[in-house]
Amino acid sequence: MNSASPKAASDAAARPRIVLGVETSCDETAVALVTEGRTILAQRIASQDEEHAPYGGVVPEIAARAHAVKLAPMLEAVMDEAGMALGDVDAIAATAGPGLIGGVMVGLVSAKALAMAADKPLLAINHLEGHALSPRLADDELEFPYLLLLVSGGHCQILNVEGVGEYQRLATTIDDALGEAFDKTAKILGLGYPGGPAVERLALDGDPNAVPLPRPLKGSKEPHFSFAGLKSAVLRAHESGEHKPADIAASFQQAAIECLVDRLELALSNSAPFPALVVAGGVAANNAVRSALESLAAKNDMRFVAPPLALCTDNAAMIAWAGCERLAADPSFAGDPLDIKARPRWPLDSEAEKVRGAGVKA
Ligand code: KG4
Ligand code: ZN
Repeated sequence: MNSASPKAASDAAARPRIVLGVETSCDETAVALVTEGRTILAQRIASQDEEHAPYGGVVPEIAARAHAVKLAPMLEAVMDEAGMALGDVDAIAATAGPGLIGGVMVGLVSAKALAMAADKPLLAINHLEGHALSPRLADDELEFPYLLLLVSGGHCQILNVEGVGEYQRLATTIDDALGEAFDKTAKILGLGYPGGPAVERLALDGDPNAVPLPRPLKGSKEPHFSFAGLKSAVLRAHESGEHKPADIAASFQQAAIECLVDRLELALSNSAPFPALVVAGGVAANNAVRSALESLAAKNDMRFVAPPLALCTDNAAMIAWAGCERLAADPSFAGDPLDIKARPRWPLDSEAEKVRGAGVKA
């Protein structure tokens, strides 16, 4: 890191605030510097795909060790690329949960040390809040409230995003998250890890109507999602030996998308109109999902907003941005206490009713 920059420090009051973000909650180690003017000054993302690929999924202990090895050099690279020193940053944001606890602790403890050393506020960010606000980093016209479909490896939720810190959960999964179902489908079909992009690619060569698969909870008045039955049906279809893998991938993706659209239609029919339909999280990188949601939004006279692909999967820019949003929303907010704990589970909407099976995974 270069030495402190007195000029930048003296200009601090005049310029937009800059937040350093750290993300280590799953299998991506990520660091970013973001301004409240929506500029990503520098960022690094190191995936751990190679480390976890032999196991077909993320191994928590391997993830935590990899974060510990990768984080310090990445912090240095980001600060160097931006030509900044820690003293030039206004706050340090890190994911404090939910996620794999070992990894979350690596990032949070590092951020605490930096905050203490540089005497800067610490912002302990909910990873889901990072995803939920990420569309506003890329789109300065996206106003609150919006209807958000948050689809990642650990979550599948519909949220009314009313403002910073104001999230009302309208639906969640009663069993598996959609990203998890993509990953398991990939494993069943022998496509390796990470599974979502591989299933999407294979589905391009398949017939989405070839394999009869269930659409769990489609048409139900219960607002939630369920993907466990779909995953088991994929396994049975594969084991029957009657179907081409590409047809299974395409039919799985089609069934999942129909569930997403059906559950969103129910949420829309149960709430006041929203100006925008927004998607975020790793599965939002899927083009078939994006185009189905785009049609749904058009049908309901809503804007459709999806972040660029790099902001859908885990990244630190969204964590730094959530920090910017929290600072801007509450001018009296001076940061979180340095003894704040890492939380393996941390619902965005603490008032939301527990549903059967849900919340088991981070
Ligand atoms: O948001 P994310 O990076 O991490 C979590 O917070 O979980 O989401 C990762 C999930 C994985 O399950 C991955 O397979 C899925 O997002 N994913 C996709 C695609 N890209 C990533 N699923 C379907 N299609 C994709 N193109
Ligand atoms: Zn995520």
